[in-house]
Amino acid sequence: MRSIGARLALWYAGVSTATLACLFVAGYYLLDQYLVRSLDLLNASEFAQIRSSLGEDYARLAPDAINERIRRTTEVASVLFFIEVHERGGRVRFASSNLGEHRFPPAPDGRVFNSTVPGIGDIRAGAFALGSLDVFIGTTLRQGREVMNVYAEICLILVCLMLVASLITGLALSRAAMRPVRLIQETANRIRSDNLSERIAVADVRDEISNLARLLNDMFDRLESSFKQVRRFTAEASHELKTPLSLVSLQAEKLLVEGGLTPAQEEAVQVQLEEIARLKKIIEELLFLSRAEAQAIKPDFRREDPRAFLESFASDARELAEHRGVGFELAVEGQGQVDYDPKWLRQVLFNLLQNALNVSPRGRRVRLVSDFTPETWRVALDDEGPGVPAAQREKIFDRFVRLVADEKGSGLGLAICRSVIGLHRGTIRAEEAAGGGLRMVFELPIAGLPAPEPAPEAPRIELHAE
Ligand SMILES: Nc1ncnc2c1ncn2[C@@H]1O[C@H](COP(=O)(O)OP(=O)(O)OP(=O)(O)O)[C@@H](O)[C@H]1O
Ligand SMILES: [Mg+2]
Repeated sequence: MRSIGARLALWYAGVSTATLACLFVAGYYLLDQYLVRSLDLLNASEFAQIRSSLGEDYARLAPDAINERIRRTTEVASVLFFIEVHERGGRVRFASSNLGEHRFPPAPDGRVFNSTVPGIGDIRAGAFALGSLDVFIGTTLRQGREVMNVYAEICLILVCLMLVASLITGLALSRAAMRPVRLIQETANRIRSDNLSERIAVADVRDEISNLARLLNDMFDRLESSFKQVRRFTAEASHELKTPLSLVSLQAEKLLVEGGLTPAQEEAVQVQLEEIARLKKIIEELLFLSRAEAQAIKPDFRREDPRAFLESFASDARELAEHRGVGFELAVEGQGQVDYDPKWLRQVLFNLLQNALNVSPRGRRVRLVSDFTPETWRVALDDEGPGVPAAQREKIFDRFVRLVADEKGSGLGLAICRSVIGLHRGTIRAEEAAGGGLRMVFELPIAGLPAPEPAPEAPRIELHAE
């Protein structure tokens, strides 16, 4: 069972029901004892009545007179009591009419005992000595047993009711007790690299839960400050590196312009310039990523139907693709209003197209499809390249990830795409295309609608402090 609340409720219900059941069992035992003792007292008082009706001179009375006196006393009581009088030798001098032909079985040791009289059932009996006579007085246990059975049935019903009631109370209590934990969970779940300043609301008390919340808030403080440090470092390092790199490339260009280099030296300088350009691109991209994650980039949103934007992109894309011997197709379905920054979204589409063209063999095609769902604008770019194994499709959005080691790219393109789409409150993911290649899909919310809930494994902007 995964919920502590449900476990607590079960424990609570189990313990309280078991306690009640134990009390009922003890009550049953005590009540049973009490009933039996009452019957003993009843039998004893009946004996006292018989003795007083015989009078002090019972020893001198003839047996018939004794019989008569006992009969007179006991006929009245023979509804309730079973009475038998023996001479000590064993001859029965008297038996109450309700005994009929039945007789008491031999008495076990002790003055009070339980016995079964055939035809009558279980009785509680007492043996009393009256001079040379032994008097047995018994009372049926049937009513007592019935009372005990009713008691047991009522107890069983009460225990069942208790189980249900304590389960409901336990669940309500555990929900109330777990509420602060749920609040902590919800807030902690919202705190991400792009939302590091949010904190868990802490009640003004000093209990275990609020101490935990304070502890987590302290941890978030430390995390926020180290994330800020990393961001500042990346931004500053990128900035600082740009100036010397520009100087180096200026010097290299000057060397080329001035001439006087051997062809081998000229080629070496060209290589240097290319590598410097690559380094500059990486620095620009890193700078962009750290600024995007620090929320320092505010896209210039426009609310419009993206059809014209896509068509303008397609005309450039077609040329780029043709240059590589690859076909490009655009399909725009449906219409709707979307808030987006055309400059940044164009950058995303070019990054995706560049990747698709990098892997597309000549003669194949790349297809861009745009359509609308009730909540989102969805854009998918399919290629006919080798695709990416399912296990790697999420990883390629991480920084500096290149699946093929000798690729030219820096591995930052998709991280930037995810960042830009994140700034648009959208999601981006990789899927398998119908033809076996890769499909890159991004979805942006329709203007005026809340951002779609990201799927559990859906992409998000995450800061990796490399
Ligand atoms: N359409 C695709 N088909 C197959 N693999 C792809 C595709 N798109 C991306 N990848 C893989 O994902 C990796 C990361 O892509 P990403 O765009 O982030 O970096 P890059 O293209 O290597 O470099 P950059 O875009 O920064 O110049 C690529 O190196 C490639 O291995
Ligand atoms: Mg790329």
